[in-house]
Amino acid sequence: MENGSTNIVWHHATVTRSRRENLNGHKSTILWFTGLSGAGKSTLAHAVEERLYQLKCRTFVLDGDNVRQGLCGDLGFSHEDRQENIRRIAEVAKLMLEAGTITLTAFISPFRAERQYARNLVPHGDFIEIYCNCDLSVCEQRDVKGLYKKARQGDIKLFTGISSPYEAPEKPDLIVDTGIYELEMCVDQVMSMLEQRGVIAPAKREL
Ligand code: ADX
Repeated sequence: MENGSTNIVWHHATVTRSRRENLNGHKSTILWFTGLSGAGKSTLAHAVEERLYQLKCRTFVLDGDNVRQGLCGDLGFSHEDRQENIRRIAEVAKLMLEAGTITLTAFISPFRAERQYARNLVPHGDFIEIYCNCDLSVCEQRDVKGLYKKARQGDIKLFTGISSPYEAPEKPDLIVDTGIYELEMCVDQVMSMLEQRGVIAPAKREL
């Protein structure tokens, strides 16, 4: 996107990301959950956050349905609006990475190009793409918000999976089969990955 700001000079903080990480006792990172509506992104992100909180980690969840009420309240579901939605979230997540938090984002983020854009915004390895793999038929059967029914009836245009595409990640950092496995098992999978990557210390889990 074109940058409208001119005559701006970046101010460098003395309290840096690495100092914050030292203070926190863990690394900061972005856990980017992607998947269909109803795949369990928010549920999983919040459950992982709960575990991390119990380990005294600094965390924050950016959630599609919440962010779209404020920061992205002016956006709809056209391709362009979804692009802009993800661009804003990616920028916020980047700031939160500097702030030393483990940021969990739960957006459908249906397009590979936008997820790649978000990945490219931050240093290599700081964007962890987690694919919440859940069949459309399962999401539709769950239909927690009743939106699939409306989409099938034609009352919601451009609904992901029905009348708007979802591009599954080709090489996600982690695939969680949220359509099959119990929530706690999915949380364990994410926690193990965070340990393996050195985001949290292995001992932290056993505290
Ligand atoms: S994204 O495509 O731009 O990443 P986002 O995750 O912010 O989407 O918002 C998705 C949520 O908005 C869904 O979980 C659902 O509750 C709601 N929603 C409303 N209209 C649509 C639509 N046309 N397509 C998908 N989700 C929709």
